[in-house]
Amino acid sequence: MITRYTSPTIVLALLTLLLIALISVSLTLAQETAVTPIPTPTIPPEPVDLTCDPTELLRQHEQLTALVATVSIETPPQAGLALDNLFKVGAAYQELALACGYIPPDAADRPVGEDVQRVLNTLSRVYGDPINGQLLYNGELGCAVCHEAGGGTVAPYTEGTFTRVDEIRLQDHLLSGYTAEQYLIESIIQPHSYIVPGYTAAMPTFYGQQITLQQLADVLAFLLSQDGPSPG
Ligand code: HEC
Repeated sequence: MITRYTSPTIVLALLTLLLIALISVSLTLAQETAVTPIPTPTIPPEPVDLTCDPTELLRQHEQLTALVATVSIETPPQAGLALDNLFKVGAAYQELALACGYIPPDAADRPVGEDVQRVLNTLSRVYGDPINGQLLYNGELGCAVCHEAGGGTVAPYTEGTFTRVDEIRLQDHLLSGYTAEQYLIESIIQPHSYIVPGYTAAMPTFYGQQITLQQLADVLAFLLSQDGPSPG
């Protein structure tokens, strides 16, 4: 009797059933955990300094809401388009918030963009490390390729950058009212706004899209430390 009930076929059948049950339970669990939680809106730590025009903001908000309403996620052929629109609308809302002066918690890790004033506003939140700045300048960001290799012929020499900015550049009437920091940031993220006399507009314009706020703060700290005599 005992041998009949524990025959290999029955044991195998029972094990298979158990396996099926286990797989279906774990699949259900996996499905439940895969649901993306809806983020809880967070209150900004400080009052936001509204730098944008509220009427314009409202107009853009209405435009974006209308766009979301035009496509349905439930209709299969439109689902991809709907998700694409949702994604773009999300990005547009983020841009709006940034333009209005909102500083996201991960500001340090985002590319800085090309708005010098926005960078100046957010820079106080980040500590610039001049040693890391030097590493980035000579390595990853490739600044030294132009600013060192040619010994000042291709681009202004690195050594003495701060002294040169302070004593020569800021005396130019085109830069009246500029601070050294403002000039240096503009030189990096909007290099063609002011072309240093004697040089061509050879500096790439992509750094704003590439460099994070933390990297910019580090490079800035490095350049501000170049306060020796300027060789050129
Ligand atoms: C392809 C060459 C090239 C690269 C790479 C380059 N620059 Fe420049 N840079 C120039 C040239 C040429 C000028 C002078 C013309 C001008 O004002 O745009 C300049 C000007 C500057 C100035 C103004 C200096 C002064 O004496 O007034 C700063 C600051 C500067 N660059 C920083 C950087 C930093 C930081 C990087 C890297 C993130 C970088 N540059 C990468 C070519 C380059």
